[in-house]
Amino acid sequence: MDQNELKKAVAQAAAQYVQERLHEKMVLGVGTGSTANEFIECLRPFKDQIHSTVASSEETKKRLLALGLEVLDLNSVDEVSIYVDGADESNEQLHLIKGGGGALTREKIIAAVAKEFVCIADQSKYVPVLGRFPLPVEVIPMARSHVARAIVQLGGDPVYREGFITDNGNHILDIHHMEIKDAIGLENQLNQITGVVTNGLFAARPADLLILGTSDGIRKYTA
Ligand code: A5P
Repeated sequence: MDQNELKKAVAQAAAQYVQERLHEKMVLGVGTGSTANEFIECLRPFKDQIHSTVASSEETKKRLLALGLEVLDLNSVDEVSIYVDGADESNEQLHLIKGGGGALTREKIIAAVAKEFVCIADQSKYVPVLGRFPLPVEVIPMARSHVARAIVQLGGDPVYREGFITDNGNHILDIHHMEIKDAIGLENQLNQITGVVTNGLFAARPADLLILGTSDGIRKYTA
């Protein structure tokens, strides 16, 4: 199976996982990116049974609305039962790098609210050590240079994602060349830099379940 087929397979497995847990008034959190888009497509056959959703980006919101699903403002929701999203990297502790698509802040907020966070990815994303994929950091625009200098002090190599503005009106710095052995520590350190909105390490709140598409079939990992 190629990477696209693996994405479709994990999306289907996640949709089945959700369908088996559907309940009245269930709010489903939906992530952003190509794997999440496949997941949205897999909701089609049982969309009428889904009470409502919350979206981690404007793009995802558009897709959910196009499918006929209700998309709620997170502020009006007490509980998100399950949040399904892709990732750029995962280690065996289910610490993730996310934000390749720039939606990291809203993704992290939904992950914080969700009772269960299900990550879906193809096998290329499962790594022994995080950091080969550049780690995104969302910054307030006027703080970009200040944050970049602080990241250099931490041993990272920040690169401005030129021409990209997040859904929140901010900029992204992608940190290259970091071997991330202490993901929770680095996540906290980066968040302490004034001007950082958040960073793409999902370690303090990791995924609860990773559904991984491999050439040998679907594998499920829990933290
Ligand atoms: C979006 O900002 C990201 O966090 C995505 O979840 C991540 O980049 C995975 O995207 P793909 O499914 O397109 O690889």
